[in-house]
Amino acid sequence: MKELLVNLPEKSYPIYIEKGLFDSIGEEIKKIYKGRKIAIITDENLDRIYGEKLSSNLEKNEFTVKKVVVKPGEKSKSIDVLLRVYDELLDFSITRGDLIIAFGGGVVGDLTGFAASTLLRGIPFVQIPTSLLAQIDSSIGGKVAVDLPKGKNLVGSFYHPNAVFIDPELLKTLDKRFLHDGMAEVVKYGAIRNKELFDELLSFKGDDELLENIEGIIYTCCDIKRQIVEKDEKDTGLRMILNYGHTIGHAVEKYFNYETYTHGEGVAVGMYTITKRSEELDITEAGTADLIKQVLVKYQLPFEISGLDKSKILQTVGLDKKNKGDNMSIILISKIGDGFIKDISRSEMEQYI
Ligand code: GLY
Repeated sequence: MKELLVNLPEKSYPIYIEKGLFDSIGEEIKKIYKGRKIAIITDENLDRIYGEKLSSNLEKNEFTVKKVVVKPGEKSKSIDVLLRVYDELLDFSITRGDLIIAFGGGVVGDLTGFAASTLLRGIPFVQIPTSLLAQIDSSIGGKVAVDLPKGKNLVGSFYHPNAVFIDPELLKTLDKRFLHDGMAEVVKYGAIRNKELFDELLSFKGDDELLENIEGIIYTCCDIKRQIVEKDEKDTGLRMILNYGHTIGHAVEKYFNYETYTHGEGVAVGMYTITKRSEELDITEAGTADLIKQVLVKYQLPFEISGLDKSKILQTVGLDKKNKGDNMSIILISKIGDGFIKDISRSEMEQYI
């Protein structure tokens, strides 16, 4: 089993990665949790496929289990659903000595983490991420949140899990579009921090070869994220580098009302667009944007959107809550594997779209 330790001043926690880990999840949880009661939060799709297996595995290990099932999709990251989750956890008479499991993708992880961080002023939780995006990004680093009608992730906190259990086999039941969605973030890690990873992604013939090698890829991505989070847990400096492709990506997602492009697809367009511009401005080594395009095409991700109204995208970028004031930070790469943060005035953003 591959293992990483996220080392933070106030909390350290392990990330375990192994194909088939889910089959012995009860035994694994027993090693890190000495209590009896466990609440699982998951969504309807995952519950249908894995719910019974997860509950019985935990019960076999003498845990008392309660399952809270939410609808799949971003709408479940709402205050209404959060209130229902609190309610069901209280009906289970949960205490601060018990454990909550987030079993799902980014939505379930964020919702569960936020519920765990706030109910009774904090209940321990573990992450069992089931999507590629959650396995390499959102389950690590402690960002938890719910959405408000005014925008995504507006109520949240930093609250780390006690452990993260990653079973790449769970990706087998993931819709291909969402495997590729997560691949955009894998490409991002390669582009900002690890040329070897990027070259490996380029060298694979397609999804089959990717999945054969996915355990090592997940480990590499988690390790990059671990290092960055350890240096800047609260996202005031270096951690912003993880937003490569995200400024334009978020704007694309929002422009299409979150209905047309997934997060990863938006990020894919964002990475290519900003790199093409920075290459034209001689900030980035010639040929870099083309390499990004090649890797995105390989994993069936878009790199540009024809007929996109740039002024509307620029307007949406300006509305981003992170970009108030005269200046903003953007993430560029000087070459593959070498990302950096650049502070620009808001008016300069036009050059990068
Ligand atoms: N997903 C970006 C971060 O955790 O900072």
